Amino acid sequence: MSLEIHSSIQNRKSVRFFSEKTITKEILTLLFEAARWSPSCFNEQPWRFIYTLQKENPDGYGKILDCLATANQSWASNAPLLLIACTKTNFTYNNRPNTHSVYDVGQSMAILSIQAEVLGLSVHQMAGFDPKQAEELLSIPDGFRAITAAAAGYPANLNDLPSKIQAKESEPRKRHPLQDCVFEGKWGGNSGL
Ligand SMILES: Cc1cc2nc3c(=O)[nH]c(=O)nc-3n(C[C@H](O)[C@H](O)[C@H](O)COP(=O)(O)O)c2cc1C
Repeated sequence: MSLEIHSSIQNRKSVRFFSEKTITKEILTLLFEAARWSPSCFNEQPWRFIYTLQKENPDGYGKILDCLATANQSWASNAPLLLIACTKTNFTYNNRPNTHSVYDVGQSMAILSIQAEVLGLSVHQMAGFDPKQAEELLSIPDGFRAITAAAAGYPANLNDLPSKIQAKESEPRKRHPLQDCVFEGKWGGNSGL
């Protein structure tokens, strides 16, 4: 029997071209519901998400778009959904800094992205945005930080795009080989995988 990783992991991709298909409230709920079930240090659940749908709230959408780096704005502006993922910086139970809060937001975004893939959507995360601008424009309170931006939607049909873009978007996804990131016993130990 040949085993394979789950298709939602294998096929997930950060696309740059989205179709105009609307994301319903029901689908949106499933995305954030998936994120909500992420594990987190002390079950703090430090993630907070601010989303906007381009059609429903063009002003709100424009605010998040404004925070993106110019290179990201150029493609993300065709995504029906933009979001900013934030974190609560301190633990609620003792108000000490939660050094894993950013890690936990990353996990929640990973789970959201996989749930999106299962539903036929693509999520494209972006470090290329101005967190301070987002915190100000979106009224993010003290004690919370903007961590990442993301654009999401149903991927465009590649055949509808110019051939140069089709070629770029069809490039195979690349990863370092397993032996570069998995060690047995100690750092550098041959994993044999
Ligand atoms: C935290 C994070 C930040 C990223 N920032 C950007 C970005 O600013 N602009 C961009 O085009 N892609 C960005 N990406 C997407 C990555 O380039 C992409 O995930 C990577 O090339 C692997 O491709 P794949 O997601 O299709 O497998 C980001 C991804 C992550 C997880």
